[in-house]
Amino acid sequence: MQHIWPIGGGKGGSGKSFLVSNLGVWLAMQGKKTLMVDVDLGAANLHTLVNIPYPEKCLSDFINKKVDTLDETIIETSTDNLYLISGANNNLDASNLVYSQKIRVLRAITKLPYEYILLDVGAGTSFNTIDFYMISDYGVFVSTPEPTSIENVYRLIRSVYFRKIRQMLNQQDFKSIIEQAGVLCKESSIDYLSAIPFLIKDREPETGKIIELMLQNIQYRLVLNQHRKRDNPNLGFLMCKMVKKYLGIKMEFVGNIHFDERIHDAVRKKVSFISRYPYTQAASDIRELCNKMLLISSQDSIAGDEHVQVHHL
Ligand SMILES: Nc1ncnc2c1ncn2[C@@H]1O[C@H](COP(=O)(O)OP(=O)(O)O)[C@@H](O)[C@H]1O
Ligand SMILES: [Mg+2]
Repeated sequence: MQHIWPIGGGKGGSGKSFLVSNLGVWLAMQGKKTLMVDVDLGAANLHTLVNIPYPEKCLSDFINKKVDTLDETIIETSTDNLYLISGANNNLDASNLVYSQKIRVLRAITKLPYEYILLDVGAGTSFNTIDFYMISDYGVFVSTPEPTSIENVYRLIRSVYFRKIRQMLNQQDFKSIIEQAGVLCKESSIDYLSAIPFLIKDREPETGKIIELMLQNIQYRLVLNQHRKRDNPNLGFLMCKMVKKYLGIKMEFVGNIHFDERIHDAVRKKVSFISRYPYTQAASDIRELCNKMLLISSQDSIAGDEHVQVHHL
């Protein structure tokens, strides 16, 4: 069974690419055939983290139809079972993909024969970021414990939620529902977006039911990186509670990763942190949170629930 985990966050520098590369190594070390895809189109650097300074092929070769299949852009890394589609030589056009190009990439990704596919989604709330979360219900969001980073992640989750609902309705209905929700929630502290599914259900019970099911299937995960001793260790739980309360979306806090200066050293030396410093707290944090995510995935696989979402696109 294939598992696709888009991994992103609201802010650059929070450790998304670091997490993708280390999760990739850890999954591969456990014998899982894993592919990392660098879809951070404007700031691709995953190749550097796995010490491939000059990848001979990359995602834009597929986007620009230099090759026919996405398969042809895959590169082996020095870790057994770990593969990469690099974004290294993406030209400027690639960072502004049109929707149909994105769909083509997403469809092709779902056809690749890998057990785990990790997408390095990058930062921000542009369509380039949000659309890559449409592929799976198992998005991972990375933040630091700083309020600015948390705020950006909340904004990103909100945009993904908005986009998921948006694509189920025609433009006119969507506009009028948004207006109605805005009026309804004007005086309350509730995020007006959370009222939208109820309003749709009132007007169009069938569509409302589909949206309700779609939202129920979401199983997001939150990682807080660069955790320092003075940070509240339960901040992640509070954040997940907030997402549930204001948006009604399930998000599980899978763990803190401690701040460690040696991560900088590992990046500088282009070695995998988890292999070079396996005995550190941060490495143990990554193993633990990865195992937690594997457990959730395996439970969902047993229930037959984990599925990709490209048909919605
Ligand atoms: N837990 C951590 N402790 C210390 N430094 C970290 C940690 N996580 C990431 N970093 C540092 O932050 C830098 C930026 O991380 P990166 O993964 O490239 O960010 P992003 O992809 O989110 O923009 C890394 O190169 C590393 O030096
Ligand atoms: Mg990055």
